[in-house]
Amino acid sequence: MSRFFLDGQTFESQLNESVLDTLIRSGNAISYSCKKGTCKTCLVQHVGGELSPGAQRGLNARLKANDYLCACQCIPKDGLRLKTVLEQDLFISAQLVERQFVSDSLMKLVIKLSERLDSLPGQYINLRRFDGLTRSYAIVKCLEGNLIEMHITRKHNGQFSNWLFGTASVGEQLLVQGPLGQCIYKAEYQTDKLILIGHGSGIGAAVGIVEHALALDHQGDIYLYHDARYIQDLYLHSALLKLSLANKQFNYQACITSKAQSEQRLPSRCTYGQAADIAAQQHPIGRDCRVFLCGEPLAVNQAQQQAFLDGFEYTNIHVLPFEYKDLRAAARGGKN
Ligand code: FES
Repeated sequence: MSRFFLDGQTFESQLNESVLDTLIRSGNAISYSCKKGTCKTCLVQHVGGELSPGAQRGLNARLKANDYLCACQCIPKDGLRLKTVLEQDLFISAQLVERQFVSDSLMKLVIKLSERLDSLPGQYINLRRFDGLTRSYAIVKCLEGNLIEMHITRKHNGQFSNWLFGTASVGEQLLVQGPLGQCIYKAEYQTDKLILIGHGSGIGAAVGIVEHALALDHQGDIYLYHDARYIQDLYLHSALLKLSLANKQFNYQACITSKAQSEQRLPSRCTYGQAADIAAQQHPIGRDCRVFLCGEPLAVNQAQQQAFLDGFEYTNIHVLPFEYKDLRAAARGGKN
């Protein structure tokens, strides 16, 4: 048993129990998410006593220099003293470097981070502008030079997205928090059948996950569906047709949901209907099936519930709903 202190309060950990687990067991309201040292939600600051090896594993130089550590990765030694972290310390600076308008309501946005962030397509970051307004956006691509690409939908009455579409300009300074979320491809999925549905601009993140899987030499079949309202929303259609020609295990289909377009001639690999229904008809559920759902929260949550009721194992359903989540307000033990 070890005794440690957080903000002057005493805690006693059991054998091999992490600081985080001790705090949770003691009813302390610390935020956390992954418990793997990835999300950095559980950061605390070391202010005294001996630190166990590995407590700062995976932290960047800035966080280490500020004596931060992940509570989930720290087995406390007797007398360790810690303090909670100020929210602003969890942000890094970034600059808006590119705005590419795909349509009136969709933009590709590229930001350059001031330092490297270990992030993957399918995760998301919180973007904060000068006045503190903050929104969460999905990571589509992590590019060389600390660049991150995101696909932004302009929301009706969306303060942040309207600012990005209208007033914000290249060179704009931003703050970034994260990455967060676990809707990511892992090497251990290599032989699994992957079924991905991107709702609206969620197709960007879904394609990012596919590209990451292909880069890691994924062996199983991959089925990607784009749930789009109108034909003109299929902004990645030709790129995805090319990707399916270049990779025989990759299959792509677009699904148009607006009845108003049901009389129109459709492009190739395009059909009417909801992607979740079409995917459910085409793929019998097996233990090796894995589902990824990205996009608007309502559509993602409905598809997640449907996949679960259809028989997919909960742990094989990965979701990235586009909703704002504060890093420090992540639900206890919540999967993001
Ligand atoms: S890093 Fe500790 S909970 Fe994610």
